[in-house]
Amino acid sequence: MIAGFVKNENGVLESYKMEVKDFYCKVNINLNQTERDELYQIAQNVVYEEYLIEKDHTPDNNYITQAESLPSWFKEKTKEFLKIGWPMFLKNKGDVPWHTDDKRKSSITFQLNDSETPTMFRNEVGELELLHHNLGAYLQNNEQEHSVPKADKDRYFLQISFDKPYIEIKEMLKHDI
Ligand SMILES: [Fe+2]
Repeated sequence: MIAGFVKNENGVLESYKMEVKDFYCKVNINLNQTERDELYQIAQNVVYEEYLIEKDHTPDNNYITQAESLPSWFKEKTKEFLKIGWPMFLKNKGDVPWHTDDKRKSSITFQLNDSETPTMFRNEVGELELLHHNLGAYLQNNEQEHSVPKADKDRYFLQISFDKPYIEIKEMLKHDI
């Protein structure tokens, strides 16, 4: 365990025990190639909106859209999470500046196409961790600063976003779903 710092509700920094892995963790929901391809097809055919940062309405190079029609097998696999979260497609070619998310606290991210470009996380004590998605599903702590370096092609994801913190969703992963 490593001591870190986190802002409390009044914006004051408080010491806090955290593990580096509080940036992200693996989620044991696996998609086979056919399932991933089905979602990738949907992801490539929906209309995206440029994401604008809430505080200054500037783009962060992410493109998002609500995932309105998803296959029933996906809804079944993720039903516990869809009860409390909302699904969305996201794509970017990287070049996403360091930020914390303004409309969610955590998210489960399914990578839909192969990409070498990682998502990078850093914390208040300067620790840096790269998330190589490797076509897997990861729970991400979107309250930690993260960024994406420039990529040469679009990275496609299906995400379930939560207004509950990472730690709470991580607890859910320990139980059968
Ligand atoms: Fe983000």
